Amino acid sequence: MSGIYPPKEFVKQANFRDPAIYSRAYENWVEFWENFATELEWYEPWEKFLDDSKAPYYRFFVGGKINACYNCVDRHSEMRNKSALIWEGENGESKSLTYYQLYREVNALARGLKELGIERGSRVALYMPNIPEAVVAMLACARIGAIHVFIFEGFSARSAEYRIRDSRAEYLITADGYYRRGKLINLKEKADKAIESYKGIKKVVVVERAGNEIEFDEKRDVLYSDVVERGKVDPEIVDSNHPLFIMYTSGSTAEPKGMVHSTGGYLVHVYATSKLVLDLKPDDIIWTTASLGWITGHSYGVYGPLSVGSTLLLYEGAPDYPEKCRTFEIIEKYGVTIFYTVPTLVRMISGCDPSLYDLSSVRLIGTVGEPIEPETWLWLYKDVGRERVPVVNTWWQTETGGHVISQLPALTPMKPASVGKALPGFEIAIIDDGGKPVKPFEIGHLVIKRPYPGMMLEINGDPRSYIQFYWSKFGKRIYFTADSAFMDEEGHVWVVGRSDDVLNISGHRISLIEIEHTVMGVKEVKEVSAVALPDRVKGSVIGLFVVSENPSEKTGMRIIEEIEQNIGKIAKPGLIVFLPELPKSSGKVIKGAIYDAVVNKKKSEHLSNPEVVESLTKLKASERGIVVL
Ligand code: WTA
Repeated sequence: MSGIYPPKEFVKQANFRDPAIYSRAYENWVEFWENFATELEWYEPWEKFLDDSKAPYYRFFVGGKINACYNCVDRHSEMRNKSALIWEGENGESKSLTYYQLYREVNALARGLKELGIERGSRVALYMPNIPEAVVAMLACARIGAIHVFIFEGFSARSAEYRIRDSRAEYLITADGYYRRGKLINLKEKADKAIESYKGIKKVVVVERAGNEIEFDEKRDVLYSDVVERGKVDPEIVDSNHPLFIMYTSGSTAEPKGMVHSTGGYLVHVYATSKLVLDLKPDDIIWTTASLGWITGHSYGVYGPLSVGSTLLLYEGAPDYPEKCRTFEIIEKYGVTIFYTVPTLVRMISGCDPSLYDLSSVRLIGTVGEPIEPETWLWLYKDVGRERVPVVNTWWQTETGGHVISQLPALTPMKPASVGKALPGFEIAIIDDGGKPVKPFEIGHLVIKRPYPGMMLEINGDPRSYIQFYWSKFGKRIYFTADSAFMDEEGHVWVVGRSDDVLNISGHRISLIEIEHTVMGVKEVKEVSAVALPDRVKGSVIGLFVVSENPSEKTGMRIIEEIEQNIGKIAKPGLIVFLPELPKSSGKVIKGAIYDAVVNKKKSEHLSNPEVVESLTKLKASERGIVVL
């Protein structure tokens, strides 16, 4: 097999070294998963591994009773001298919690939350920065059977409101503020705005993180420090398919959808893949750079690593602030062993010289969230890892809960920029529109052919979209990922990108349709088309092509403001172009013609108004800012 073979030193100590794991998992699929499941603790064993009678509503470990918090915390709480979590704030303060301290803290919050009225099945929104209390809040919810709905702190008040409303959250946990690029952000103010017109929130718990002044509604708000109560709470014994959390993500519609994840199946999946792919062991310190508010933060920033008994490193701020190379400083300072990140961050720090830092503690690097180019992958492998450590490229989605395709670090030869092969226990294919497998190197639809324990249970409150998005293109047994990919003759996969109107920016999912809807809210805008444009650092940026009565810098700024208020800074466009008309054919906007003109300098011939692309071809592909044509 071709590719770069895993470093020998790594292989010697790896969790999984026997190549037969692939065939064994294929032949004894149930046993493969059940073996991982039995390494977790269950109150009652499952009666059935998989119930697929109501496909595509697959249910795993049916009848099993479990508690996620127990498996992540109580099981390891005897380790009184071992860190569960090490935290660094943006301005350099540091804090750590041993497993025992985490156990006490989670119990104390769980007690307090129960006192407030939170119970099994209550939905609790967490609008929180990357601070230890956010991890504690997730686990405390899990402990009492409440369902957490984490909202990334960078989202605007309106984005948060949508998620709170749609999930019918009854409680909100937030913080006074947090630091980002040296600025204190007043999160409580955003939280107040988010629930101004939604009357479903009974109590708001506020963590005092930054000590900034906040509005305090005596009837509704309570301080975190007043909520926690010394003592213990027995973990709630829940069914394997009791929801653990809801995570919102963008699909190809104007509104984000809430992906509901199970407790038992999800935990088995993230536990197994933490060991298989990230090679996690109890003495590891893993730094997953994603915010807790994204699926990566949940699966490999909290539940996976804690279920294995490893130590989490949690960082509050921007990875390149105040020093461009802060990422390497943090790795060196804490002796991070597993570094799991996104290609955008790697490109951001690629100007740093890794040889100036002691990175010898690192023994595995992983990336996720967007395609990585060969140069960036090779920089990680050669310059950062010194050809000493495997660099795995993991493919998965919010919907899948955990890894699906990746190299196994001691077993799969690495091909720069490839995501490797389907993991043991998974079956994927790349097929054409008619459902037939494509030939090697031909691009097709990436699909998953067999269910797996971490897969989402449903879309919150929207069964129609669940079927329509994922299970209608190729039927109820073939999961449509909406990604395009190709394979080589050896089964290694290269992911090309999304085939729908979803964009991955810096590893975050954004819907182009949601952006277009938002921009239409600006009254000067008559028409808009959002197109993903390639970008050297971020992978892609949003290009907005706008028809307006008042094409100007000012309207451009209004558009940016509208996006920041409705969605958040992550969706800020890289380029806004005002033009007299959008390229059309039979009255429909042809996005491909915009892309071809700007990026490939090609003029599409099949337009009813070909003259409009002429000026677009003159734009530089790297052009950023506001341009009036
Ligand atoms: C993309 C993130 C290329 C893909 C865990 C997928 C990737 C979407 C990779 C899911 C990768 C994820 N290479 N593309 N290694 N991993 N993607 O839900 O388009 O935020 O559909 O989950 O990210 O994004 P999500």
